[in-house]
Amino acid sequence: VARVLLPDGQYAWMITRYEDALEALKNQKFIKDYRKLYEEDDSDYGSVFSENMLFADMPDHRRLRGLVSKAFTPQMIAGMRDRIQEITDELLDEIADQETVNLIDAFAFPLPIIVICEMLGIPTKDRDDFRVWSNSMIEGSNGAYAQDIQKHMQDFIQYLRDRFETVRKNPGGDLISKLIVAEEQDDQLTEKELYGVVSLLIIAGHETTVNFIGNSIMALVENPDQLALLKEQPELIKSAIEETLRFNDPVEYSTSRWASEDMVFKGQAMKKGDLVIVILNAANHDPSQFENPEQLDITREKSKHLAFGKGIHACLGAPLARLEGEIAIASFFKRYPNAQLNINKEDLEWRTGMIVRGVRELP
Ligand code: HEM
Repeated sequence: VARVLLPDGQYAWMITRYEDALEALKNQKFIKDYRKLYEEDDSDYGSVFSENMLFADMPDHRRLRGLVSKAFTPQMIAGMRDRIQEITDELLDEIADQETVNLIDAFAFPLPIIVICEMLGIPTKDRDDFRVWSNSMIEGSNGAYAQDIQKHMQDFIQYLRDRFETVRKNPGGDLISKLIVAEEQDDQLTEKELYGVVSLLIIAGHETTVNFIGNSIMALVENPDQLALLKEQPELIKSAIEETLRFNDPVEYSTSRWASEDMVFKGQAMKKGDLVIVILNAANHDPSQFENPEQLDITREKSKHLAFGKGIHACLGAPLARLEGEIAIASFFKRYPNAQLNINKEDLEWRTGMIVRGVRELP
């Protein structure tokens, strides 16, 4: 647990050891809604993107997560297996004749965005717009796109506004329709929260999984002994997925938390309002928990990695991400068992931003 200066001039407590990370993620004295600390006015319209469970504390958190959690149970997700396999096969068919392909654009991105769009009842043809908007919001704050963020956020809000209008007139069985019913009838969801929850599902539903698929393929291609083992024993796919999540974590840092009161955590005196960030990728490489952490070992015992976080904010989409990853990785290597990286590792360009960890292109 150390206090460090961030590139944007703020100080933050960074938590890197596994045990400390676990404790911090579970400790509800570290809160997500910083407005509670300062009683700030929240009228800024751009803030609709944070009106959701990821940035809420109890009891709002339970209410917001409860509205969508039924759609993400392992049983519900298991029912999507055939459709995810079908989308995967179609995408792999499309690249069949190409000698070199950018797997991010052709495979890792379209798969999760098509899946989440179908769950939400959004036309998948609009997916490239989501990509631009959400990339800009996730990376923009410290990337070259800063001037575009505001515009992209407004376009995103306008898109959702039009979408909600269409759905209000003609609701269906999708998740947006269910949320709109909750907003209109039961007073369970405010209008801002409707924007917040839907945008979170679109953003979290693909940004993370794009990197997950890309990082997993990269980890396996770079560790041919492990890839050979997986080909010999395809039943290792589930533990291989967990290991690539640990090894090449797609979400590098947790989202921000704030100390809700003056407190001592792990011997460090923290002040009310101090920013706290858990470095998930560091915890997942803690040698006190993972033997030879820098080695990819797809036979590791049941993994206790923190790639999906822990505590009340533990990833809601984990069962979906796992299923998408399992199908994507198994199908890709079945179809292209000798795939190789067609770029020097040093030339790979990594995405900016503190939360996501993935490459822009994977040739
Ligand atoms: C929360 C990782 C995929 C929806 C989180 C958190 C992590 C995470 C680390 C907690 C952040 C924190 O505590 O600060 C991942 C990874 C994914 C993935 C590594 C892919 C491999 C998904 C998908 C969805 C999703 C596919 C939805 C379709 C969410 C939501 C939350 C969340 C809604 C907030 C939960 C809450 O606050 O109660 N995710 N995620 N994630 N994730 Fe994921």
